[in-house]
Amino acid sequence: MARRARSRRSKHRFTASTADKHLLYQKAVQSPEVDLALIRRIFERERGRPARHLREDFCGTALLSATWVRLHREHTAEGFDIDPEPVAWGLAHNCDGVDATRLHLHLKDVREPGQRAPDVRIAFNFSYWVFHTRSELVDYFRRAHASLASDGLFLIDLFGGPEATNELEERRRCGGFTYVWDQHRYWPGTGDYTCFIRFEFPDGTELKAFRYDWRFWHLGELRDALVEAGFARVDTYFEGAGPKGDGDGVFRKGLRGENCASWLAYLVALR
Ligand SMILES: C[S@@+](CC[C@H](N)C(=O)[O-])C[C@H]1O[C@@H](n2cnc3c(N)ncnc32)[C@H](O)[C@@H]1O
Repeated sequence: MARRARSRRSKHRFTASTADKHLLYQKAVQSPEVDLALIRRIFERERGRPARHLREDFCGTALLSATWVRLHREHTAEGFDIDPEPVAWGLAHNCDGVDATRLHLHLKDVREPGQRAPDVRIAFNFSYWVFHTRSELVDYFRRAHASLASDGLFLIDLFGGPEATNELEERRRCGGFTYVWDQHRYWPGTGDYTCFIRFEFPDGTELKAFRYDWRFWHLGELRDALVEAGFARVDTYFEGAGPKGDGDGVFRKGLRGENCASWLAYLVALR
C-alpha cells in the first residue's frame, strides 16, 4: 500500500515540459560525495597531507566544487566552464550557504589560469574529450601540470572496453524518470564520437537534454599524453566488478585492468 502511494507520487513528478535537465542530470550521473571521498583518500595516501584547494574543470553546475567547500572549513574551490547557463543554474541551486569567498566560478575556458595553485585538479565525466586532436589534449594537460601545487594531483575519468564504441543506448531507471545514454555515432577513422543524454518520463514524454561531440580517447593514449605533458607518474584506478558483472563503485589501483565489455577508470597524474 505504502509502496503504491510512493510510486503514484513519483509517476506524476516528472514530465518533459516541467523537468529541469540540470536537476535530472545531477540525480542520474553525479555522486559528489563518492567522488570527493576517493579524491581525498588518494591525495592523503600519496602526499601524506589533506588536500585543501580543488580546481574543477568543465564544472557545469559546480555540484562537486560546492560539495567540496561544504566538506571542511579550510576547503576552497575554483570551477571553470565556458557556458554561463549551467553555471548560473549551479549558483542558484547548488551554492546555498556556501561561503562565497571560498568558491570562485570562472566563466572561462579550462585552459585559462586560475587564482591559486590547486592541490587537486579534476576533469570529470569525460568532458576533456572535447579536445579532438592530440596537440590540443597535450596542451591542456601541460597547462594542468603547470597549474598544480608542487605536490598536486590531476585526475581525469574515462571509460572503455569493446562496448564503449558500439552504437547503442543504455537505459537506467532513476526515481520518477529514465536516464538514457545514447552512444549515437562512432567513426573509427577519426575517433569522432557523438553521444546524447535524454530523459524519458512515465507519461510517455521525453526531454532531449545534452549532446556531446567528442573524440574517443583510449587509456594508453591518455597515459602517454599525460607523461608527455610532464607528469612524473600516472596511476590507473579501475572499478571492481559487482556480483552481476557490473561495476561495484570501488576503484583500486591497477596496471592492466580487465578486458570486460565496458569499464570505468580514473587516471591519477602526479606532478
Ligand atoms: C558534461 S558537462 C560536465 C559537467 C560536470 N563537470 C560533471 O562532472 O558532470 C561538460 C561541461 O563542459 C563545458 N565545456 C566544454 N568545453 C569547455 C572548455 N573548453 N572550457 C570550459 N568549459 C567547457 C560545457 O559548457 C559543459 O558545461
